[in-house]
Amino acid sequence: MRRAVITGVAGYVPEKVITNKDLEKFVDTTDEWIRSRTGIEERRVLEEGGTSIIGEHAVRMLCEKTNTDPKEIDLIICATVTPDMIFPATANIICDKVGATNAWGYDLNAACSGFLYALDTGAQYIATGKYKKVVVVGADKMSSIIDYKDRTTCIIFGDGGGAVMLEPSEDDNGIIDSILKCDGAGRNHLAIPAGGSERPASIETVETRQHFVRQEGQIVFKAAVTSMASVAYDIMEKNNLSSDDVAWLVPHQANLRIISATANRMGVSEDKVMINIQKYGNTTAGTIPLCLWEWEKKMKKGDNIILAAFGGGFTWGSLYLKWGYDS
Ligand code: UT7
Repeated sequence: MRRAVITGVAGYVPEKVITNKDLEKFVDTTDEWIRSRTGIEERRVLEEGGTSIIGEHAVRMLCEKTNTDPKEIDLIICATVTPDMIFPATANIICDKVGATNAWGYDLNAACSGFLYALDTGAQYIATGKYKKVVVVGADKMSSIIDYKDRTTCIIFGDGGGAVMLEPSEDDNGIIDSILKCDGAGRNHLAIPAGGSERPASIETVETRQHFVRQEGQIVFKAAVTSMASVAYDIMEKNNLSSDDVAWLVPHQANLRIISATANRMGVSEDKVMINIQKYGNTTAGTIPLCLWEWEKKMKKGDNIILAAFGGGFTWGSLYLKWGYDS
C-alpha cells in the first residue's frame, strides 16, 4: 500500500459578490446580525452555467500548476450537491471540458462533508496502486438551490470550489487516517424536500418552494458543534497528536462559532485555523479545497493537517494528512 499525497491544489470563485448589505434588500436581516451569528460578510454567486464551470476552472488551473496533461488523469471524483443535472454526473462533464479523455469520473454526494468523503475515496485508488493521478473536486453552486426569500438560509451560502491532485507519495507524507460518519436520522433537518424520487417535481412542490434548501438551523448547529469538534479531537487522539503537533486545522466553513468550538476542543489556537468564511460563506463541498488553495503558500512539507466537516445527511468526519510539498 502506497500513501496518497496531495501534489497540487487550485480553486475558483465567481466574480460576482453579494454583500450582507445586498441581502438586506431581499430579506428582513441586517449586516450586523449576519456577521455576529455566522461570521459571514459576503459571498460569491455564479451567474451563468452550472457547477461544472467551477470544477472546470479549478481542474484547468490544477493541471497548469502541476504540469499535468489532462490526458494523464485516471479519475475525477466530484463532490457536489448541485450537479449540473441529476444525470449525467458533473465529473463526466468536467472530464469532457478539461480534455481528460482517458479518465472516468463520478459524483459523490455527502453535502458539506463531500470533499472529505471524496478525498478519502480517491486516496484508496492511489493506495492500492490502481491509479497514479486522481483529481478530487469539491464544488457547489449553492445559489441554484437557495431560497432568496428565506432569511435563515440565503445569508449563509455561496458558490465556489476547488480541486486537488492525488499521486503516490514518495515519502511518509500524504493522507494518513480518516474518521467518516453518517446518521440518516438527521435527514430532515437539512434537506431539499422535493425533486428526488420520493417527491418528484410537481406544480405543488414548486409553488410551496420545496426545491430549495430547508434547514432547522439550531438543531443543525448543535449537532455540528458536537460532532465536528468530537471527530476532530478523536482523530488527533487516535494518531497521538497533541495540539502543538497540529500545524493547521482546515474546518468546513459553515459558521464561525462552529469553527471556534472545534478549534477549542482540539486546543488549537486561532492562528492555526484556516478561516475564509467572511469572504465566501458556506460553499458546501467547496469550503475545504478553497481553504487549502488560499493557504497553499503557508503550508510546509510535513505539516500535520486536520480537515473536519459536518453537513446535511447528517454527514461528518475528519481526515489527518501530512502536507506533501513547499510552495
Ligand atoms: O454546512 C452545513 C451545516 N449547516 C450549519 O452548520 C448551519 C448551522 N446553523 C447555524 O449556523 C445557525 O443556526 C444559523 C446561522 C442558521 C442561525 O443562527 P442562530 O443563532 O441559531 O439563530 P436562530 O435560528 O436561533 O434564530 C434567532 C433569531 C430568531 O428570531 P426570534 O425567534 O428570536 O425572534 C430568528 O427568526 O434570529 C432570527 N433570524 C434572523 N434575524 C435576522 C434568523 N435568521 C435571521 C436573519 N436575520 N438572517
